[in-house]
Amino acid sequence: MDRVGFVGLGLMGKPMAKRVLSHGYGLTVFNRSRGPVEELARLGAYPASSLKEVAEKSDVVITMLPDEPDVRQVVLSLGEALGQGSVVVDMSTISPFTVRELHDFLSERGVEMLDAPVSGSTMAAESGTLTIMVGGSRDVFERVLPVLRTMGRTISYMGGAGMGAFTKLCNQVLVSVNLLATCEALLLASKAGLDLGKVIEVVGSGAAGSWQLSNLGPRMVARDFRPGFKVQHLRKDLRILRSVAERMGLPLLGTSLVAELVKVLDERGRGLEGTQALITVLEELAGHRIS
Ligand SMILES: NC(=O)c1ccc[n+]([C@@H]2O[C@H](COP(=O)([O-])OP(=O)(O)OC[C@H]3O[C@@H](n4cnc5c(N)ncnc54)[C@H](OP(=O)(O)O)[C@@H]3O)[C@@H](O)[C@H]2O)c1
Repeated sequence: MDRVGFVGLGLMGKPMAKRVLSHGYGLTVFNRSRGPVEELARLGAYPASSLKEVAEKSDVVITMLPDEPDVRQVVLSLGEALGQGSVVVDMSTISPFTVRELHDFLSERGVEMLDAPVSGSTMAAESGTLTIMVGGSRDVFERVLPVLRTMGRTISYMGGAGMGAFTKLCNQVLVSVNLLATCEALLLASKAGLDLGKVIEVVGSGAAGSWQLSNLGPRMVARDFRPGFKVQHLRKDLRILRSVAERMGLPLLGTSLVAELVKVLDERGRGLEGTQALITVLEELAGHRIS
């Protein structure tokens, strides 16, 4: 597992690939636009010009791509070119049912697959402290673990194919509902004339604390909407969550509410901003701006 390929060098993939490279692995990289490929090449990675080339030069290929069609297209292409016994590790957030389809497709060709989505921001990707939740064969998990350790601090095996993706969806329920709660709490605090920084600090240190409140709350107050996690990716995750819940006969009421609000935000052209921009929709409904 010493020859690693990395496909998808965006906000998350680029720092993750740099971590793998800095731990001495021979790394082959590929991305749709060439800028990040050239940046990684300057650090010592091999700049592949096709997915076929990535497959030929790698024992394990990591994918970190935006949405399901991208993962499907890349994994199907890799599957045609990868050697028997090699492994695809998809770290994007996609549906567990799509994971299972891709897992079966690869399995028929003698290629293994792990679903290993991550939790944590671009900062966690840079510092190698991501939480990684893994589905697939335990044996394959053990073989790939040293590579995952270069990127994550908490790395957990969750069960067979798709169980990493299911765990990530649980994560996204909590992320989205806490995001809405953060917006509502800041609106109330602002209307009441409270010091917003102090509210974030005080309630954040008690039972109401959350990553969304302590990390995105200050950015909402500062009106810093630069992306760590893009609105369009949260919209995608909520779309997946709703379709998975529908398929499982499960009502997800709070999550569905956030999905509608995030859709409005994206339709307003704010899809490339960070998810903290949700405050702008809530401000409009309230007729009140927090800062
Ligand atoms: N950002 C976060 O905080 C975060 C946290 C946890 C999980 N995630 C999940 O991780 C995944 C990636 O997120 P991200 O924020 O890194 O996304 P991103 O910034 O949009 O990066 C995606 C990268 O994939 C490349 N790409 C797209 N289609 C491709 C293809 N067919 N072949 C090769 N490269 C392709 C893009 O290339 P271009 O340069 O041409 O656009 C881009 O560099 C998503 O599923 C997201 O939901 C994100």
